[in-house]
Amino acid sequence: MSINYDEQIPNNVNLSGDKRLQRALEKWQPAFLDWWNDVGPMGFQKDDIYLRTAVSTEPGGWAQFGHVKMPDYRWGIFLEDADPNRTIPGGDHAGQPVWQEVPGEYRNTLRRIIVTQADTEPASVEQQRWLGQTAPSMYDMRNLFQVNVEEGRHLWAMVYLLHAHFGKDGRDEADDLLARRSGDADKPRILDAFNQPCPDWLTFFCFTMFTDRDGKYQLGALAESGFDPLARTCRFMLTEEAHHLSVGELGVERVLRRSVQLTKADKNGDARAQGGIDLPTIQKWINYWYSYSLDLFGSEISSNAADFFGAGLKGRWNESKDFTEHSALNQHYTMAVVRNGSLTEDQVPLRNAMNEVLRQSYMADCERVVKRWNRALEDEGTDFRVSLPSSRFFRRQGIYAGHDFNREGDLIGSEAWQKQRESWLPSDADRAYVASLMHAVTEPGKMAHWIAPPRKGINGQDIAFEYVRRA
Ligand SMILES: [Fe+2]
Ligand SMILES: [Fe+2]
Repeated sequence: MSINYDEQIPNNVNLSGDKRLQRALEKWQPAFLDWWNDVGPMGFQKDDIYLRTAVSTEPGGWAQFGHVKMPDYRWGIFLEDADPNRTIPGGDHAGQPVWQEVPGEYRNTLRRIIVTQADTEPASVEQQRWLGQTAPSMYDMRNLFQVNVEEGRHLWAMVYLLHAHFGKDGRDEADDLLARRSGDADKPRILDAFNQPCPDWLTFFCFTMFTDRDGKYQLGALAESGFDPLARTCRFMLTEEAHHLSVGELGVERVLRRSVQLTKADKNGDARAQGGIDLPTIQKWINYWYSYSLDLFGSEISSNAADFFGAGLKGRWNESKDFTEHSALNQHYTMAVVRNGSLTEDQVPLRNAMNEVLRQSYMADCERVVKRWNRALEDEGTDFRVSLPSSRFFRRQGIYAGHDFNREGDLIGSEAWQKQRESWLPSDADRAYVASLMHAVTEPGKMAHWIAPPRKGINGQDIAFEYVRRA
């Protein structure tokens, strides 16, 4: 279905066919723009940014590129086409026709699921709002703003569902999504990782690599929902999300490459002496953001997760394609748990382990990227390798929270943890050092000293293309 850009709110859901809904969303629209102007990207709102905009939801060729001022970006409502034969992929209703309307018994649960996903979208825009001021290149600045406008669009996607399917409650939730603020003591965002500051570009790259990738897996699980409008909107969001992940993966890779180059250039092998970020510091950022992102999947053993799966509200990653058995009943999942001060294996009913099942898919995906990073390190001629810590390391949610594990996932005492903490996680001094490198580079094609140039530009353009045209 092609997207109608003639209306005030671009959409492919025949919004003009439901005047009440259209009016309600048109009322929310100026509030969204106020929010964007208040806590969206600091500065650059009058500049022309080379952005992509969705023109259809067909696979391939859905994006159109051109210079746009961010506040003029055409945020809209785009759902993938409905498959009239689609059935509920998993749980107790597997095989029955999907729901086009919210089933009454699941109304509150479904609303909670949608609000929790929705809340992450504006949160990340708020977290990243200062980064334009210190972009290492115009190419990077453009990528940042592309991610930001698309997270804004993802908020639209979720708000549409709330308005269209949850009546007054949904409209109230949509208003609240613009009222919470990342990191605010009184009205914080719902999930912890989305209240963490994002003060430097190494954090931004780790965030888009690890935290946006959690988003990919959450959206993937919701793309397997029996509530069809949710599944269809998430499938299209996933196509946009892929770019955010590549910004993160390639960003970290460029910092790694540059780090090796500067280490080699220094007579003492000290990248910092050359104005770069040393490899052990990059590893600490990886440890921190990987662990924070693992928390987002929720507890390893969870009756909520079992309920969501049983009800058919969420599936596993690729539930319909990769699994043949969709009830997940009478099966168990083997999991390491802490009992009497040591690690031991437990058999957990599979439905209760669904958060962990999704987390494992995520972890395998992260491992694939780490392999590519290590190939880049090899290519630069160093023996240093980066790695992911154990999924038990530095957790604040779930069954490992409250225990101290080293990077390998062995239980250690809190004294040993305190002693080694600074060798694993960013210290204040590390953060201050990385922050000290953050200066804007505004000449097209030039890069900050601490990061290697990308291999290619955006949409076939040169790296030195004018991705941001200052007003
Ligand atoms: Fe998003
Ligand atoms: Fe994203």
